[in-house]
Amino acid sequence: MDIEIIQPNKDDIIKYDVKNFLFKMVKYCYDLDYVAEYHYDIVDLEKYYIDPENSNIYLAIDTNKQQVIASCAIRNYDRDYKVKNRTYSKDDTASIHRMFVHPDYRHQKIGSKLIKCLEEFCIEKQYNQLYLHTYESSYGALSFWLYNNFKITYHTHDEDGTIHMEKILNHNTYNEDGNINLKETVST
Ligand SMILES: CC(C)(COP(=O)(O)OP(=O)(O)OC[C@H]1O[C@@H](n2cnc3c(N)ncnc32)[C@H](O)[C@@H]1OP(=O)(O)O)[C@@H](O)C(=O)NCCC(=O)NCCS
Repeated sequence: MDIEIIQPNKDDIIKYDVKNFLFKMVKYCYDLDYVAEYHYDIVDLEKYYIDPENSNIYLAIDTNKQQVIASCAIRNYDRDYKVKNRTYSKDDTASIHRMFVHPDYRHQKIGSKLIKCLEEFCIEKQYNQLYLHTYESSYGALSFWLYNNFKITYHTHDEDGTIHMEKILNHNTYNEDGNINLKETVST
């Protein structure tokens, strides 16, 4: 299996039918059809992830099948979640969206590779931290984020089982070749 990670341009979004992939994943993972309030960014990927300089989307492509098999997206923090003892702003915080790995491709570290790409991008863009929220019911999600060194900041125990998480970015973590700089990595 040959997997390539790309930062798609507008033509790639059409070529790989990315919006269709994302809506299929939303249906599969959350049993949700289109809801305008939740899915406006999927409808307009260009506006939220392609055009802004501080946003990005990464896709994993199965090059044999020429199909998108995983995604993750980043944009500056534009919500107002009440997370205890935390203040996030659009200038210092990037939020992660649309993290999906197709069920046939899970458990092969493809999700973790996408996160590494995304972290390198956020360090380059001078973000200080990454924010996300997940749900207790999301398949493998909490373990996946903990594995990738995200910390729980607020487990709400609300009816959706919402868990807020963050990762402080260490600007010394990656050396100029893009490899982990172990000597300078400190655990938080
Ligand atoms: C969560 C998800 C993105 C993980 O993708 P993936 O490519 O399979 O993850 P990786 O292979 O990089 O996993 C790295 C580590 O995370 C943990 N992990 C990942 N999936 C797990 C699962 N289902 N159960 C327990 N631990 C899991 C493991 O520690 C794993 O390392 P290991 O395989 O050596 O044990 C994928 O399962 C998915 O798309 N889930 C549904 C959508 C979702 O919940 N997205 C997150 C929204 S916030």
